[in-house]
Amino acid sequence: MGHSRDAVDDSLTARDLSRLFHPATNLAIHHEKGPLMVVRGEGIRVWDQDGNEYIEGMSGLWCTSLGYGEEELARSAYEQMRILPFGHLFGGKSHPAGVELAEKLVSMAPFEASRAFFANSGSEANDTQVKLVWYYNNAIGRPNKKKIISRHKGYHGTTTAAAGLTGLPSFHNGFDVPMSRIIHTDCPYYYRGAERGESEEDYASRLVNNLEELIIAEDPDTVAAFIAEPMIGVGGVILPPATYFKKVQEVLTKYDIFLIDDEVITGFGRTGEIWGAQSFGMKPTTLTAAKALSSAYLPISVVLVPEFLYEPMIEASGKAGIFGHGFTYSGHPVSAAVALRTLELYEERKLYDHVRRVSPHFQSGFRKMLDHPLVGDVRGIGLVGACELVKDKQSKEPFRPEDSVGFYLAERCQAHGLIARALGDIVALCPPYIVTESDIDEIFDRYAKGLDDTLEWVHKERYL
Ligand SMILES: Cc1ncc(COP(=O)(O)O)c(C=O)c1O
Repeated sequence: MGHSRDAVDDSLTARDLSRLFHPATNLAIHHEKGPLMVVRGEGIRVWDQDGNEYIEGMSGLWCTSLGYGEEELARSAYEQMRILPFGHLFGGKSHPAGVELAEKLVSMAPFEASRAFFANSGSEANDTQVKLVWYYNNAIGRPNKKKIISRHKGYHGTTTAAAGLTGLPSFHNGFDVPMSRIIHTDCPYYYRGAERGESEEDYASRLVNNLEELIIAEDPDTVAAFIAEPMIGVGGVILPPATYFKKVQEVLTKYDIFLIDDEVITGFGRTGEIWGAQSFGMKPTTLTAAKALSSAYLPISVVLVPEFLYEPMIEASGKAGIFGHGFTYSGHPVSAAVALRTLELYEERKLYDHVRRVSPHFQSGFRKMLDHPLVGDVRGIGLVGACELVKDKQSKEPFRPEDSVGFYLAERCQAHGLIARALGDIVALCPPYIVTESDIDEIFDRYAKGLDDTLEWVHKERYL
């Protein structure tokens, strides 16, 4: 549904092309095709400037969990803005919205958390995680225990430390990351990573053996933490084998290595449990959350930590004169008030139950796509899933990356009124929690039309 550059005749499109610098965008293609100018949203739908309607099948960037136009959240922002539009947490200042949200989050955590540190994005929160681990190990006299292990295809954001944690080459190349002390291990990608005939269980064991070998090679006394998404999102909607995290944890415990649980996509109900950690048997040391925390109506993220991690920082910061980390908008009262109301709405409207109720229908929508000639694998849990497109279902041979087949499918879905996201040739859906079963049928009708168009196109282009 892109506009060609020559056909640009409206001022918003032209102004975008001349003044905006888009994040995470193929800038060359953007200048050819122009933006999709979204002007309004309501429920699970958004409209563009020409009045075309789309189902927001990705909840924006995996985040608008309550959909669009939620009056309750608008009201909570307005009321908080009138009472206290800004307040900060530096130098011991505080405000009620920050305290209330910290209490609520600590009470919900899937481990013995005791405190909440606020930031504004998943990336900032993950940079905070790295710094907390370093600060803690310095404070308790383990200055060499600093390396962080993350996984290939993991996504943890784009600030300097987080971009390094991210295990996707396109977020490293040209940016001089990862910084030293960040290392990567295998991604638990059974569909592509398993050897012929290898069971999921054996595959998980093999990966965890590799992890242990890596830790030993690096020297366990230098390895501080392992960071993982319960389910890899941006890297391709990759679910771990059932026993993977249990096995990973045994190794981490053996070498006294923390498990940082990145719940930026999975937190607050996406997988059918409140936390992805519950769905996949993780026992985190610390946790990062964002996105659905405020249904993305305002930016806010959080790092939840246990008391043992916080404790030594009291003395260390006392000696240093300050705990020298934080952001002007850490715990911004308007974001905090909206987040608190979001968490209340999940409970009042029984949305965690709703996700559990409709997700079998959603997942069966994906399974039906497996009959399509282009679909080699379907994966998902709760209200998130994806199809992986292949040239040959039997051999799993992929298309050439430069043929951009996944991108074409996302474009055709958009032409049929569905926003999906191409993660290479893996095309994901992650709709707002408020979808009904009939919405889900409409989503897959549109997705299937996109697949049929794509099949016709790959034949025409002779990519098959
Ligand atoms: C798992 C995960 N961690 C971190 C981030 C980074 O969050 P942000 O874009 O808010 O910095 C994302 C964003 O998609 C994510 O999916």
